[in-house]
Amino acid sequence: MRLKDEVAIVTGGGRGIGKAISMAFASEGAIVVVAARTLSRLDETVEEIKLGGGRVKAIQTDVSDEKQVQRLVAETLNGYGKVDILVNNSGIGGPTVNVVDLRLQDWNEVLAINLTGSMLCAREVLKHMIPHRKGNIINIGSDGGRFGYPMRSPYCVSKWGIIGLTETLAIEVGQYNIRVNCISPAAVRGERLTNVVMGRSKATGVPFEELMSKITVNYSLQRPTEEAEVAAAAVFLASDESSGITGHTLVVNCGHHIVQ
Ligand SMILES: NC(=O)c1ccc[n+]([C@@H]2O[C@H](COP(=O)([O-])OP(=O)(O)OC[C@H]3O[C@@H](n4cnc5c(N)ncnc54)[C@H](OP(=O)(O)O)[C@@H]3O)[C@@H](O)[C@H]2O)c1
Repeated sequence: MRLKDEVAIVTGGGRGIGKAISMAFASEGAIVVVAARTLSRLDETVEEIKLGGGRVKAIQTDVSDEKQVQRLVAETLNGYGKVDILVNNSGIGGPTVNVVDLRLQDWNEVLAINLTGSMLCAREVLKHMIPHRKGNIINIGSDGGRFGYPMRSPYCVSKWGIIGLTETLAIEVGQYNIRVNCISPAAVRGERLTNVVMGRSKATGVPFEELMSKITVNYSLQRPTEEAEVAAAAVFLASDESSGITGHTLVVNCGHHIVQ
């Protein structure tokens, strides 16, 4: 077991990639705290992990709310006495419109959840990790944080920000034996991908099936990434197997970045 008795907070652990990471962490022996806004989805993750014999707790949290993030970390510390790992996975896709048509409230909402929420969670766990000289933070970025992403400017900017936050934090806290890395997926098969493609189909008038089939044309492996493949990368970065790696963005995208 690579994460035996480690306490890990996974934001957005109620579905999709966050759920896959939570389940993988629990099967590696971690005690997992799943956090998101929708308690019913968190409870589903809790039930599945417990069925497999894992240790897990749900704490309803909006990561864009400073007080709720403080409560998340305080309740984790009260329950388990420590936080070893944070996975900043929570995120929303935001609107699919050109900047010229963008509403300020949509821009602000995406940045508040995807970027400010990640900073707040990192800030609060670091207050515990720094004095204990141990910690590991993994931020979930996106290919949208490595290229321009037409009609998705708030999302794209938030994910470029995640890479900046990763590298900045890694420099600030390396002296305390704390590592900070990022995982950058492209299209990951699941609920979220379907919703994003439906949004683009509505915005452009191009049929859903046509857009879906074009998505992986520029992927070396010619298929979307699986949630379990992102989770496997998270286990690697959370474990001592990656002890020499910090400030790194690990691309888990079926080779999208190398095909023109
Ligand atoms: N799926 C992809 O193709 C893909 C590709 C690249 C990167 N990513 C990134 O991977 C991460 C997970 O994506 P996913 O595909 O698993 O998406 P998802 O299925 O939409 O899940 C997103 C999670 O974030 C949570 N969340 C949203 N707003 C929140 C808030 N204010 N506070 C707390 N939690 C919040 C959601 O729960 P509630 O709504 O209940 O709060 C949900 O659990 C995201 O950061 C995404 O940008 C995904």
